[in-house]
Amino acid sequence: MRLAKYIAHAGVASRRKAEELICQGKVLVNGILVDTPAFEVDPAADRVEIEGILIAPEPKQYIMLNKPAGYLSTVTDPFGRPTVLDLIGDIGQRLYPVGRLDFDTEGLLLLSNDGDFTNKMIHPRHNVPKRYVARVTGRVKPKELGQLARGVELEDGRTAPAQVKLIEYDGNESRVEIEIHEGRKRQVKRMFEAIGHPVVHLVRTGFGHLTLGNLAVGEYRHLTPEEVRQLLALATGQAKIDDGEDLP
Ligand code: URA
Repeated sequence: MRLAKYIAHAGVASRRKAEELICQGKVLVNGILVDTPAFEVDPAADRVEIEGILIAPEPKQYIMLNKPAGYLSTVTDPFGRPTVLDLIGDIGQRLYPVGRLDFDTEGLLLLSNDGDFTNKMIHPRHNVPKRYVARVTGRVKPKELGQLARGVELEDGRTAPAQVKLIEYDGNESRVEIEIHEGRKRQVKRMFEAIGHPVVHLVRTGFGHLTLGNLAVGEYRHLTPEEVRQLLALATGQAKIDDGEDLP
């Protein structure tokens, strides 16, 4: 890892400030002055000191939040609206949402300070499945479920095959479970709009192997090392989800 990145990851300074400190000759690696920001360090073995103080890499954090409606999945908002970080408080590290849920969408949102993990989770190539329960207007007919499952035409292209199941119809609205592998903007809402049943309420209930379980709305918990390992294996194609029953 580049020295400037290592210092930034340790949470000691921004990347630019780290470069400045290095160029000013204030950084030692294994006791030797290094003034090149691109100098490669081994985070597991090298000792990096800034003005005599040994710095340690920031521990990796992986958090699952049950996002309430009314929170932005961003770090800050120029209009001062609440963001998901307001729900986490200060855990000593800068966290970033792993992908996005809309302001009015609830449910499972991951946050992490591990950029590589985040990229793997959100990159379309990696196809981590995401499960939602959508409450939509009207009665969704089997033919329309089939359309969603095969893919519908959106303005940014046809959606990939999805797994879809009608949970219930209460005479007014339908509740539908849908699992998609893509993560386009407002994708689930646009898919239901395309079949003429706008979404009234949307909850993400699953991400890869993870489910919300009994995590209350607005609460969060740390992922276990095994959960992180499973997600990475899924994203890199080394694991498949086998939860017994496929959605029809
Ligand atoms: N699809 C949507 O339409 N909105 C979300 O927040 C997530 C998926």
